[in-house]
Amino acid sequence: MKYNHLSKKFLWGASTSAFQVEGAYREDGKGLSIADVRSFKKSDKQLDTKVTVDHYHHWREDVQLMKELGLKSYRFSISWPRIFPNGDEMEPNQAGLKFYHQLIDTLLENGIEPIVTMYHFDQPLGLIEKYGGWISRKSVADFVKYGQCLLEEFGKKVKYWLTINEQAVLVVASDMIGIDLDQPIKNRYQAAFQANYHMWLAQAEVCKLCLNQFPESKIGPAVSYITTLPASKKSYDMMAAKELEDFYSFAQMEVALRGEIPVYFQNELAKLDIKIDTKPDDTEILLSGRANYLGVNWYCTTIVEANPEAKEDQFIFQRIMRIQDKELRHTDWGWNFDPIGLRYGLRQLSDRYGSIPIVITECGWSEEEELIDNQVHDKDRVEYLDRHIEQMALAVKDGVNVISFNPWSFIDLLSVGDGMEKRYGMVYVDRTNFEEKTMRRYKKDSFDFYQKLIKANS
Ligand code: BG6
Repeated sequence: MKYNHLSKKFLWGASTSAFQVEGAYREDGKGLSIADVRSFKKSDKQLDTKVTVDHYHHWREDVQLMKELGLKSYRFSISWPRIFPNGDEMEPNQAGLKFYHQLIDTLLENGIEPIVTMYHFDQPLGLIEKYGGWISRKSVADFVKYGQCLLEEFGKKVKYWLTINEQAVLVVASDMIGIDLDQPIKNRYQAAFQANYHMWLAQAEVCKLCLNQFPESKIGPAVSYITTLPASKKSYDMMAAKELEDFYSFAQMEVALRGEIPVYFQNELAKLDIKIDTKPDDTEILLSGRANYLGVNWYCTTIVEANPEAKEDQFIFQRIMRIQDKELRHTDWGWNFDPIGLRYGLRQLSDRYGSIPIVITECGWSEEEELIDNQVHDKDRVEYLDRHIEQMALAVKDGVNVISFNPWSFIDLLSVGDGMEKRYGMVYVDRTNFEEKTMRRYKKDSFDFYQKLIKANS
């Protein structure tokens, strides 16, 4: 056994999210989400959310494949607008709850631990139309109502909760929360960082609710952690890398785990003259609703250097420049293959947060792929998984408390940026961007590789 230092209870898993796999976008009372609308706008170029890989109708078969793969955990998200179609209803949609009860029960029957994300990029459109979505403080109450509903329904079955997926991405790609990208940067960021602040409050409230009712459970965010390396050993490049990593990734973790907004983060907002509306009790809300574990979405490293033209009073994104490391392999979309970066990143997390449990909620390799003779030989994905798992296990040996690894993704799905052309799955789905084809599922080579690895190590 290669990784015999990992706990026998280590959760070898895999990951997806609702709008990327479910389809059935208006079925059984589901409302529209901003993710739906955003995908419809790109419908002429790539797959949208209407059908995707139709997991809503194939879920039993998909869970059987998970079982065959040997999964110990499955990280997926609940579609917010399946539960509250408009976001503002007082009562949840029973059909939506039923779907997830069945899914969760079947996972548990098959020995697969559900790791459930409450909100993965799909806020109900109704809330955005009603009051601007996360821009408004009203969204906090609507998320808390939704979170409380999930806890009441599923709290006895689900031990691992993720509140918000990749909040930092939502701020930068702010059209994902309904904030128009085509406006002066100051206006856009004023709205996006106010929204970010409301998400922090909402997350804290839900963490508190959860741990009061289910003290044994784990709850925290799934953060986008891009380990950021300096282009040289010069102090200015090192500072640039540190500043970007702190602002983009660590600030999110600091608020979730320590309940405090870092000063460096506030300084950056001041550079754009952004003013955040707050209330006196907010400090207490953040402090009293801290996460007790961390979900980490980790794909690759990034390399930056200081922009020699930039001035200190400019915003962080203007003070750094990204560099492509020519020695590293990249996906066709520029995401590098840097497994040691994962170990390094995990070590940084334990330097900061000690033995906090960490779940790797996403980690994966994308490819354009074709089914030939009913097979997909995804050699690069196998190597990616092999090398990243090796480095993750070394980090555990170093003392980092990683308790679960969930590659992105279990099955081919709708890539947020690039539709169906960019595949991540260990299971191939017979469909393309514009053709539904048979929707049949096929095991890729990475499926066999991961199946053997799980069998040998659990
Ligand atoms: C993460 C998201 O940002 O990256 C996933 O949580 C997403 O939802 C993944 O699919 C990969 O990004 P993309 O654009 O290649 O799908």
